Amino acid sequence: MSRVHPRFRSLSTLSLVVTLGVILWGAYVRASGSGAGCGSHWPTCNGEVIPRSPSSATLVELTHRVTSGLSALLVLGQLVWARRLFPVDHPVRSPVRWAALFMFGEVLIGAGIVILKYVAMDQSFGRAVWVALHLVNTFLLVGSLGLVAWRSAGARRFDLEGKGLTVGLGVVCVALILATGATGAIAALGDTLFPAKSLGSALREDFSPASHWLVQLRVVHPFLAVMTAFVLLAVRQVVDSRADSREVSYAGTQLRVSVVCQVALGFVNMLMLAPTWMQLAHLLVSQYVWLALVRFFATALEAAPTDLYEALGIEPTEAEIAEGGSLTVRGLEAADAGDAPVEGLPSHE
Ligand code: HEM
Repeated sequence: MSRVHPRFRSLSTLSLVVTLGVILWGAYVRASGSGAGCGSHWPTCNGEVIPRSPSSATLVELTHRVTSGLSALLVLGQLVWARRLFPVDHPVRSPVRWAALFMFGEVLIGAGIVILKYVAMDQSFGRAVWVALHLVNTFLLVGSLGLVAWRSAGARRFDLEGKGLTVGLGVVCVALILATGATGAIAALGDTLFPAKSLGSALREDFSPASHWLVQLRVVHPFLAVMTAFVLLAVRQVVDSRADSREVSYAGTQLRVSVVCQVALGFVNMLMLAPTWMQLAHLLVSQYVWLALVRFFATALEAAPTDLYEALGIEPTEAEIAEGGSLTVRGLEAADAGDAPVEGLPSHE
């Protein structure tokens, strides 16, 4: 049973999947050293709209530009369509706006990287800052798109009353994972510019004062990542036990499993000296961890589940769907008439 709009839901899922594909391809652009494939021209590629005799670096970079344009159009389509489909206070509307904002940020950061020539073998401090900024903006974009896709399947509103501790813990976890991702992006840049020959020499270089600062910074990421993983696992436990909800527990399990897998993948990545395919796998799972974290806190901070309709065995009306699927008088009446107690039903005595 779809509670919002099946085609909008499909568009939202497509938009999320395409964006994740673009992010992975962007990492491949960096790992393959193809960032200068279109020179320092933007939005044209080497001064041409369609390059006539492109090199492989040009094709790699151009594919990234074309697919990122497609993903920007999808987000724009979501924004326009959501405005037409849903009332202004519908729970899908605000994450769609954030997604559009962060997509705009992606376009600006991407253009800035090309125009400032922070590509290929550039080793400047500015490049490291922009790479970290790019990663943070990408996470925020994916988180917003995840919320849109998820709320398209059963819209809810945040209900923060009495949830101060959960909000505080959420802020800490989000800050930690963004910092972990940003240091990971700097580590990846270090690996690309100064590829290690062996694990032993890489570790010696990491701790040598003579090494380039990008190499020295590489070690920050694994330490921060392990600390973040412990905090996420502990916070999951606390929030889950306070929420006492099957949905929060389910989201928490996804978070726990993905964090453990990502830490394991991180160590394997390091031991294997970060081959490109492994970098892409590590990046993909980092997006999954992030989406799982967003979903976990969103579930814990949202109002009572709309699945009450399902539990009550009634179809929501169009008006109730448009309203955001919150439990209405009709739902409460149906609950009163029913024999069995319904889990999660707000008390109205
Ligand atoms: C929650 C845990 C973790 C998260 C969210 C995370 C996230 C990330 C991200 C976003 C990148 C940048 C990828 C790119 O731009 O291509 C990265 C890179 C990297 N990470 Fe992690 N990471 C985690 C744990 C670990 C651990 C525990 C290790 C090692 C012990 C590790 C080792 C690396 C290495 C070597 C790189 C650079 C090479 C690459 O791009 O894959 N990570 N990480």
